[in-house]
Amino acid sequence: MKLLVTGGAGYIGSVVTRMLLDAGHQVVVLDDLRTGHRAALAPEATHVEASIHDAARVLTPDAGFDGVLHFAALIAAGESMVRPELYWQNNTVGSLALLDAVRAARVPRLVFSSTAAVYGNPLELPIPETAVKAPTNTYGATKLAVDMALTSEAVGHGLAAVSLRYFNVVGAHLTGDVALGERHDPETHLIPIALDVAAGRREKLQLFGDDYPTVDGTCVRDYIHVADLARAHLLALDAAVGGRHRIYNLGNGSGFSNRQVVEVVREVTGRPVPVEMAPRRDGDPAELVASSALARTELGWVPQKPTLHDMVADAWTFYQAHHPVQPS
Ligand SMILES: NC(=O)c1ccc[n+]([C@@H]2O[C@H](COP(=O)([O-])OP(=O)(O)OC[C@H]3O[C@@H](n4cnc5c(N)ncnc54)[C@H](O)[C@@H]3O)[C@@H](O)[C@H]2O)c1
Repeated sequence: MKLLVTGGAGYIGSVVTRMLLDAGHQVVVLDDLRTGHRAALAPEATHVEASIHDAARVLTPDAGFDGVLHFAALIAAGESMVRPELYWQNNTVGSLALLDAVRAARVPRLVFSSTAAVYGNPLELPIPETAVKAPTNTYGATKLAVDMALTSEAVGHGLAAVSLRYFNVVGAHLTGDVALGERHDPETHLIPIALDVAAGRREKLQLFGDDYPTVDGTCVRDYIHVADLARAHLLALDAAVGGRHRIYNLGNGSGFSNRQVVEVVREVTGRPVPVEMAPRRDGDPAELVASSALARTELGWVPQKPTLHDMVADAWTFYQAHHPVQPS
């Protein structure tokens, strides 16, 4: 297929681009590099340095695209609470512009990066796709709005749409001479920050809240290896059906508390990770654990690296290749 990948210079989009190319697809990456990395761009893919707001320049009716994989977004939940207009403009208005271009060019299918953040504080665990959607931050709300627009687009215009709701994505794609991993700046995700502390590049790790109703009082999250997540996109592309919007949660179905994550980071790196407790942050749900039963039955998705140890080990390998690590 000829595919457009928005956000293909980012963490997850670059891994999916690599797998699409390896599977024989032709890929054009649309990424304005606002948070992505030129070094993460696949040499075999064509790169168009532009915003999704201008997607119609690339998705012309004559260009012959068979599908779009839409990763481009701003992703920091905390920032979305203090600069909400940025998130609505980029994540929602930008996605609507992309959908206009998809419709005008009659592109038949689209796979969208949605998020566990659409559920807010879940009433049931593990969380099924049918759970109440009540995002507690603007980031989650901007993603839920796009999910809803995709349902309309499928019903109204026959798009084959799939939303994949990721839980916490970790690890790196390490094969042959390819090494693609997480490099957000500023980093807001727990594991890369914990690796920074293990490497001696930060003094200590702040954990926000130890009075949640969880196993040890710290927040519990479900982690998924980026390569397992990427494989689900290839399955979703094949499974997409015109006129339907399918939605799948992607996680491993088991939760780890922040303190348990820190223990795994200490184990994998063999280094100390000093922790400082801080007050709860607004909008952080106590526990987010996915039910991915639907992805398993309908897409045939089977995670190959379900253990947190493997995910952190791959993240650490990537980390050490890209950052100076202080002697312990
Ligand atoms: N990382 C996670 O744990 C996680 C969890 C749930 C959902 N997601 C979703 O997955 C997607 C990818 O996340 P990521 O971690 O790879 O983020 P990332 O920041 O590494 O990548 C996002 C990419 O999109 C590009 N981009 C942003 N806005 C753009 C625009 N208007 N036009 C063109 N390019 C633009 C950036 O330059 C960057 O390369 C996002 O949609 C995010 O909401 C990520």
